[in-house]
Amino acid sequence: MNHFIDVLDYSSKDLQEMLDLAVKLKSQWKKGGNPPLLRGKVLGMIFQKPSLRTRVSFDMAMRHLGGDALYLSPAEIGLGKREAISDVARVMSGYVDAIMARVFEHQHVLELAKWASVPVINGLSDYNHPCQAMADALTIYEKFGSLKGIQVTFVGDGNNVAVSLMHICVKLGANFTIANPVGYDMPSKAIELAQEVARTTGSQLKFLRDPHQAVKGAQVIYTDTWTSMGQEEEAQVREKVFPPYQVNQELVSEADKDVIVMHCLPAHRGQEITDEVADGPHSALFPQAHNRLHAQKAILVQLLT
Ligand code: CP
Ligand code: NVA
Repeated sequence: MNHFIDVLDYSSKDLQEMLDLAVKLKSQWKKGGNPPLLRGKVLGMIFQKPSLRTRVSFDMAMRHLGGDALYLSPAEIGLGKREAISDVARVMSGYVDAIMARVFEHQHVLELAKWASVPVINGLSDYNHPCQAMADALTIYEKFGSLKGIQVTFVGDGNNVAVSLMHICVKLGANFTIANPVGYDMPSKAIELAQEVARTTGSQLKFLRDPHQAVKGAQVIYTDTWTSMGQEEEAQVREKVFPPYQVNQELVSEADKDVIVMHCLPAHRGQEITDEVADGPHSALFPQAHNRLHAQKAILVQLLT
């Protein structure tokens, strides 16, 4: 069974083909001609956490391509609580053509994939966010024409979004740098996996503490919330640690003059990013969010046709 759990499960060629498909589907959509590639197909969407972009873009992606989507909120299902994940996976597989799940523990999406007889898509876990990474890569690809050799710098928490961004960067030949505080590193396993891929694609990886050093020469600056969903009890501590990592005008002015600033959203304006940057001339925040729709379509078409 073909799933979409981690961009590292795909070859560089497969990922590039998905990006090209996303570009094609986006241009067809702009011309008002969505192809009915998923006619009659239904995506079941299980959410253990809130969502705007993932929920709406997957739903609209299915509708544009002639299919439908079913939203199951955190109050329903009770994944692993009301019912065993293995049972949920097997029951859902008899009703829908694919399952998208946003979970707390990464192990839970792996468990769903293990038992489902339809494709499972990871809509964010505590470990990674591969659908976001596809939209991010699409945004960078549209701006620069290729990811090869592009300097992408993540400033902030070594979280799920950072992990998938690093992984897609190394797969597609971009150079990836992160600046994060002590104690907020990405999981060492994620780093080792990235280093392994980088050896074959030639991507350069840097793991720094100083955001000013990290953004020198950056063509993309990326940031995300200091406190991810599920870490709310750490928020006060994090708000003391992360202010030096704020993406503000001063930091942006230290990067490449044509730098784009990215954020997966939701943004906490005044914390990890200032209004001035989020709404400023370098911001790619909204085109990036809109690209979730087109990236999601490519993932769905790849899995379901
Ligand atoms: N970026 C992202 O996944 O947004 P949502 O949490 O709103 O889906
Ligand atoms: N790192 C954030 C991303 C939200 C889309 C979180 O996990 O809450």
